[in-house]
Amino acid sequence: MDQQQIEAAARALEAGQLVAFPTETVYGLGADAENPQAVAAIYAAKGRPQDHPVIVHLAPEASLDYWACDIPQEAHALAEAFWPGPLTMILKRAANIPDAVSGGQDTVGLRCPSHPVALALLRAFKGGKGGVAAPSANKFGHVSPTLAQHVRDEFEHEGSVAMVLDGGAAQVGIESTIVDLSRLATHGPVLLRPGHISAEAIAAVIDRLPAAPDAAAPRASGTLESHYAPHTPVAMQERAVLVQTLDALHAASRKVALIHYSDLPPTHAAQRLPATPEGFAHALYAALRAMDGHGADVILVEAPPQDGAWLGVNDRLRRAAHGSTGIVHGLLNKQPGI
Ligand code: TXA
Ligand code: MG
Repeated sequence: MDQQQIEAAARALEAGQLVAFPTETVYGLGADAENPQAVAAIYAAKGRPQDHPVIVHLAPEASLDYWACDIPQEAHALAEAFWPGPLTMILKRAANIPDAVSGGQDTVGLRCPSHPVALALLRAFKGGKGGVAAPSANKFGHVSPTLAQHVRDEFEHEGSVAMVLDGGAAQVGIESTIVDLSRLATHGPVLLRPGHISAEAIAAVIDRLPAAPDAAAPRASGTLESHYAPHTPVAMQERAVLVQTLDALHAASRKVALIHYSDLPPTHAAQRLPATPEGFAHALYAALRAMDGHGADVILVEAPPQDGAWLGVNDRLRRAAHGSTGIVHGLLNKQPGI
């Protein structure tokens, strides 16, 4: 990636256009956070409801005080510990920040990503003083992109995206951890979305373990029950059950695409991922997209262990599978082609 491309992307953003760029988590679809029309263009391109807030990405030198108000000391401590990196903080929004970026809520989501291309772009954009609003660069509800090609696959037929910066494969592979600090005094820190930075790692910095979302917690589209989903139905099963399911589906002439991490018999299509949470997260979205391309009746996923280290991965898999409840049963009770 040369500096000329970065500068061109920064100028496009300043002109109100959309630029897709790599981050260490997933690719983002960026727009000038202080330009409500540009932010509206993100919603239009993604097909996303207008009341869903987007994350504002900042350069490391940016001032939190410009974007947020009533900033608790905990936010400064977390920024110090984890930025640049895969942590998003929800804070009270400063009065000068347009409410388009927060879907009308009085908060703002802020994050400083660590990918070198993202950092270079954020430093070039408005002299490092701007904010780039960027949700994941995919259609609403679909799997987040971890390669530039994924972004092109989603948007290239439309002309809505001016540039796609290619920074290779996103290293973390699942979206940032989101912690809500906007209601610290009344609700404490709240973990809105699990990710690579664990609740325990956050607790080690601020001495308080983020709680699970309560009923009054801010809305977050990445926390919708059905999200991160490929077009093919997804079912998640533990190994012992999955082995039997595979047999039964094969006997019923069903096509199975498999995402797994232990030894399993051959099937229509399969991708084996590393048996570590980091390795599995890194490869998961590309695997879902690849398995989605095989015309299978179902994507079966070998359920990872239920421990804390796998929380982010299990969260994404559960949401990917949410709309497919009963799919295996349905496939076994109907003949193919009927
Ligand atoms: O890793 C990531 O966070 C990626 C990269 C591109 O940075 N971005 C990402 O954006 O995943 P998106 O829009 O797909 O998911 C952002 C989540 C959404 O669930 C959104 O609702 C929530 O963050 N969010 C953003 N601002 C918020 C706010 N003010 N209050 C509550 N939730 C917020
Ligand atoms: Mg998203």
